[in-house]
This record gives sequence, C-alpha cells and structure tokens, in this order.
Amino acid sequence: MKIAIVFYSFSGNTGKACQFLKDKLIEKKVDVDWRELKLEKEEKSFIKQCLDARSKKTPPLLSADYDVSSYDLVIFASPVWAFTFAPALRSFLNNAAGLNDKKTAYFFTHGSSAGTKNALNELESLLKEKGARVQFSRSISGAKTKDNTYLQEQFKPLLENIAAQMITD
Ligand SMILES: Cc1cc2nc3c(=O)[nH]c(=O)nc-3n(C[C@H](O)[C@H](O)[C@H](O)COP(=O)(O)O)c2cc1C
Repeated sequence: MKIAIVFYSFSGNTGKACQFLKDKLIEKKVDVDWRELKLEKEEKSFIKQCLDARSKKTPPLLSADYDVSSYDLVIFASPVWAFTFAPALRSFLNNAAGLNDKKTAYFFTHGSSAGTKNALNELESLLKEKGARVQFSRSISGAKTKDNTYLQEQFKPLLENIAAQMITD
C-alpha cells in the first residue's frame, strides 16, 4: 500500500502529528511518501497569515509535485488558520492532479478550536468537488501533538481503516 502525507506546518505541531502517523504506517510496512509543502515566500505576520487564509489566497509553493494519482490513499494536513486551513494546502489542492475517485483523509491541528468545524467542512467540500472520497477527517489539539497517547487515540479510526484495507487489497 502506498500513502502520501501532504502537509503544511508553520510552527511544527502539524508536522509532529504527521511524523507520528508516518512512523505508525511504516511499522505496518506501508510505503509512505512525505510531502511537506513549503511556500516560496513564507508569510511571518500573524495578521497577514489570517488575511491570506480568510481571502483564500493560493501563494506559490516551492517545487511541489502535484500529482497524487499513484497513491492508494492521500492524507492531507494543515493548521487551522482564521477558521479555515492554511493557504499552502489550498495552493496544493488548486493544482493537484489525480484526485478524482482518490481515497483521502485529512486532519488539522488547532489552538482554541474556534473555526475548526468551518475548516473541516470547507476542505470536505473542496475534496468532494475534485471527486475525492474522504475516509477520515478530524481536528486535533496542536498543544497535544507531543503526546503520543493522545495522537494514538485521535488517529485510531484512520489507522484501523488503513489496516483493514491492507487485508482486503
Ligand atoms: C495565523 C494563525 C491563525 C490561527 N487561527 C486559528 C483559528 O482560527 N482557530 C484555532 O483553533 N487555532 C488557530 N491558530 C492556532 C493554530 O491552528 C495551532 O497553533 C496549530 O497547531 C499550528 O500548527 P503548526 O504548528 O503546524 O503550524 C492559528 C494560528 C496562526 C499562526
């Protein structure tokens, strides 16, 4: 089974959760492609980051491979920014190829958790517009991404689902 983890992380929380998933998947002998999204020009101002997220900006990414057609499952991840997801992920999805009928999962990390429902719904709609099938979605606490017990609990349904698919494939 081949899985891509496509994610953006500004301050490291989402990256930590992705690393946890990657380690768990490798333990299960899954072939994992690690695709960390980087912006050509990283915006550092909180206000500007919020404005860019709210206005659905799609800033250019550094050398991203947009084709996800070769994967059995694509996992997307981003922090919640201003009640939505980060612009880097939007940039990726705008250009992504191979999402039609693709199995996908996604998660966010959040602070206060304000706006997570909106962010989850927005990404679900965007993925469905592109014909993708969503198998798992959740927003998790960014502050708890150092806690492996918490991460295990949050990702249990996703990991169980992947294990079941490996048996049937
Ligand atoms: C620009 C900006 C906007 C944010 N907006 C929200 C928000 O609307 N709701 C929320 O729960 N957390 C918000 N946060 C907190 C982040 O979602 C949280 O700290 C996340 O875990 C950061 O992930 P990262 O370390 O991978 O960048 C925001 C953080 C930043 C920098």
